[in-house]
Amino acid sequence: MEIEELKKELKKYLKEERYEHSICVMEMSEKIAEIYNVNKMKVMKAALMHDMAKQMPIEKLKKYILDNKIKVSEIEMLLGITLHGKVAADICRKKYGFDDIMCKAISNHTTGRPNMTMFEEIIFIADKIDETRKYEGVQELRALAFKDIDMAIVKNIEYTTKNNLEKGRLILEQSIKTRNYILINKQR
Ligand SMILES: [Fe+2]
Ligand SMILES: [Fe+2]
Repeated sequence: MEIEELKKELKKYLKEERYEHSICVMEMSEKIAEIYNVNKMKVMKAALMHDMAKQMPIEKLKKYILDNKIKVSEIEMLLGITLHGKVAADICRKKYGFDDIMCKAISNHTTGRPNMTMFEEIIFIADKIDETRKYEGVQELRALAFKDIDMAIVKNIEYTTKNNLEKGRLILEQSIKTRNYILINKQR
């Protein structure tokens, strides 16, 4: 399906603000893909649709996960925040014919995972630094993403983790694994 058609589909799922974020993530992913030599069209499609299930009620997401036998950890089920990516990946595969590379990037866009492909890294970071993001340090992170995408991911996870700790929230171990993997293996 072409980008323009996907946009129309996406509008059915998302409210204006989340739709706007999706468009901005798509634009950011295009710029980053250019630098790291990744197929732009595929990255843009995955970026556009990464949050398509974000506004599904949590109970519906959980039901979808169980009905479709999607693998998620206990803590993910408990926290709920990563489920929209898992569901979006499944819908995009079945409904829009997205391939494995695209689906994996959508599925893991919230926490990342150890040993991500460049494609996944682009989706992960574009989501965190798109033009709708306003948190402190986002500009520096944007600049870093264009120079050293691995370190930009590490910095983003550190920022999010710190924030979650300060607020007394649970921490997803998958984020920590993603960060550690990069720090241990960073030498491309
Ligand atoms: Fe998301
Ligand atoms: Fe997002």
